[in-house]
Amino acid sequence: MTDPDLSCTIAGVRFPLCIMNASGALCVTREELEALGRSGAGAIVTKSMTVEFRKGNPEPRYYPFSGGSINSMGLPNLGYQTYAELIPALKAFKKPVIASIAGLCEEDFPEIARAISKAGPDLIEVNLSCPNIPGKPQIGYDFDASERLIRKVRAVVDRPMGVKLPPYFDPAHHAAMADVLKRAPVDFLSLINSVGNALVIDPEKESVVIKPKGGFGGLGGSVIKAVALANVRAFWKAFDGRIPIIGVGGVTSGTDVFEHLLAGASAVQVGTALVEEGTGVFDRLAAELRAVLAKKSYPSSSAVVGRLKEL
Ligand code: DHB
Repeated sequence: MTDPDLSCTIAGVRFPLCIMNASGALCVTREELEALGRSGAGAIVTKSMTVEFRKGNPEPRYYPFSGGSINSMGLPNLGYQTYAELIPALKAFKKPVIASIAGLCEEDFPEIARAISKAGPDLIEVNLSCPNIPGKPQIGYDFDASERLIRKVRAVVDRPMGVKLPPYFDPAHHAAMADVLKRAPVDFLSLINSVGNALVIDPEKESVVIKPKGGFGGLGGSVIKAVALANVRAFWKAFDGRIPIIGVGGVTSGTDVFEHLLAGASAVQVGTALVEEGTGVFDRLAAELRAVLAKKSYPSSSAVVGRLKEL
């Protein structure tokens, strides 16, 4: 049998591989973005950008442990004007460029979106779920604010746009956000952002492990995979599979990618595993996914999407 096809198409944009970096992971500087361009990654996703350059929160602000990671980076990034200048060069790598946009207040989003759209990324991912700015709640937990913001951004961009949502833990919240997205449509969903405001403790030192916010931060890695899969599945069902989903959370093996595809993701993003392993992770995951699909006689990753069996 010929090798399984691992490409995918999201909002009309073709990805040579359905595996890419998650925003935040090794994608802040020009050097990091170019390294993603040279790597096996199926796309280049930028760090969430704000209006101004930010140093971010004090260190230590990222801590890996067995099973995952916790971070409170505080949106360190170069500022949107620098990313707007970088995007044309990144497109030379012949894979999609996804610009992730954030903001410290609602008005920042349309300002960034307008300018970044003109720079010509293939897709725009609107981050409604940064948990790490002291005093700023995650927008995705405020359904009215999310709807307002999606409408404002949509009005000023001419690229396909999606939203990166926080994890929800109750079907009522999945339904409320799905209703928002039916009134204010987007072209794709990235699910999920880190599980916000978790606390990891070092019992030996009797201490928190990161400095910002008294040790509270966003949880990523294997420990959040089940939460990510549940959110992918809930939104896949809410839209009858009619909106493309990028699954994010706990991808460390080809089997993890396969599970995200089964739940309804068309592609996946990799955060903690990329930071821990480096950009070689994409080739490893692609090889492992290819082996899983070949063993199960699937011709392609897209043939798996949403095929999860229920009992
Ligand atoms: C940061 C973390 C996030 O999970 C996010 O969505 C955006 C920014 C951060 O701390 O930099």
